[in-house]
Amino acid sequence: MLRDADVLSLLLQRQPGHSLARPFYTDPGLYEVDLARIWYRDWLMTAVSAEIPKTGNYVTRQIGAYSVIVVRGADGIARAFHNSCRHRGSRICSAAKGSNPKLVCPYHQWTYELDGRLLWARDMGEDFDASRHGLKPVACEEAAGMIMICLADNPPDIAPFRAQAEAYAGPHGLKDCKVAYQSSIVEQGNWKLVMENNRECYHCAGSHPSLCRTFPEDPKVFGTNPKEQAPVLRDHIAKCEAAGLPSKFMMAPDAQWRFIRIPFLGNAASYTMDGKPAVSRRVGRVSIDDAGSCLAYHYPSSWNHFLSDQGLVFRMTPISPTQTEVSTTWLVHKDAVEGVDYDLERLTEVWIHTNDEDRAIVEENQRGVNSPAYEPGPYSPQHEAGVIAFVDWYARTLQERLTGRAMLAAE
Ligand code: FES
Ligand SMILES: [Fe+2]
Repeated sequence: MLRDADVLSLLLQRQPGHSLARPFYTDPGLYEVDLARIWYRDWLMTAVSAEIPKTGNYVTRQIGAYSVIVVRGADGIARAFHNSCRHRGSRICSAAKGSNPKLVCPYHQWTYELDGRLLWARDMGEDFDASRHGLKPVACEEAAGMIMICLADNPPDIAPFRAQAEAYAGPHGLKDCKVAYQSSIVEQGNWKLVMENNRECYHCAGSHPSLCRTFPEDPKVFGTNPKEQAPVLRDHIAKCEAAGLPSKFMMAPDAQWRFIRIPFLGNAASYTMDGKPAVSRRVGRVSIDDAGSCLAYHYPSSWNHFLSDQGLVFRMTPISPTQTEVSTTWLVHKDAVEGVDYDLERLTEVWIHTNDEDRAIVEENQRGVNSPAYEPGPYSPQHEAGVIAFVDWYARTLQERLTGRAMLAAE
């Protein structure tokens, strides 16, 4: 089992432009380093606002060793708390989601306000100070209808991401959407293989017949490199900006997140089998049907597609060195009526197929990487620039946190 020094040594031996060495995808010690240095340190997209629209609505999340409650308070604010009672540590909420007027521990019924304050604890003696036994908070911010949490004591500055999320995703009105459907699948693959697979479309033609009806597989059209954009992408960006939708390639200085608005193929307007909109009501303030797809990712946990008629939010959670959960949420206008304004199967089928196809290829990738014969192979500079960007971010971030020294992001 590898420790920090071993991981640093592997990072220093890394060949840029190549997939990572086998332990990065398989080793239990390296997985713990990933949790401690990445997942417990960075902002994670953990829910959409529409999952907890009302006071007392909550979801629970397991991130490595941490169990977290995300709950909507009476003041409308979403907060996150460690799901561990301040009495003797029991989990307070065991369900994946629910709704409660207060948070009541099932063990001895200590009762917490939705803002974390301890309200009631039976027979604890005169000296007991309830104010010192509130739930431990986890940093929590809502950004354009996405709820981000960070387990670190001193979270990184989320303001730059929030500003761009409000600009790019804000017009899609995710806060005023409803959850039409959610799916959750477990992929038998390391979380980095899941993200690597997501960051390229080199595999799309061979794996995604449904998605390829509408999604352009050419990287010059889906926009991984701002210096190499096809005319159809440049024209689409100009058209959408003129319609009031921020659309240009916008990336964090360290490449941790990015937004861009891309066109669909031909006249397609949505991820449907025939390319026509899946929902008859547009979301938010989007004023045109053919706004394409606003692509947003935030390492390490999320990638998203914001369309004229729906929002698609993907959330990734590592479960073990070789297991990752991928949850998908389909958001539609809150007044859209199933069976009238949209058909659920038509809305969801392309990405249900696509997720399952991606699961199968990630699992085959993992099986092949498990072999001692595996060695890092070269990424295609043309088709896998997005993967190179992710792996460079990962390696640079991990190295910085293992050494305590900042490194310059690549051009
Ligand atoms: S552990 Fe929660 S009330 Fe006792
Ligand atoms: Fe894919």
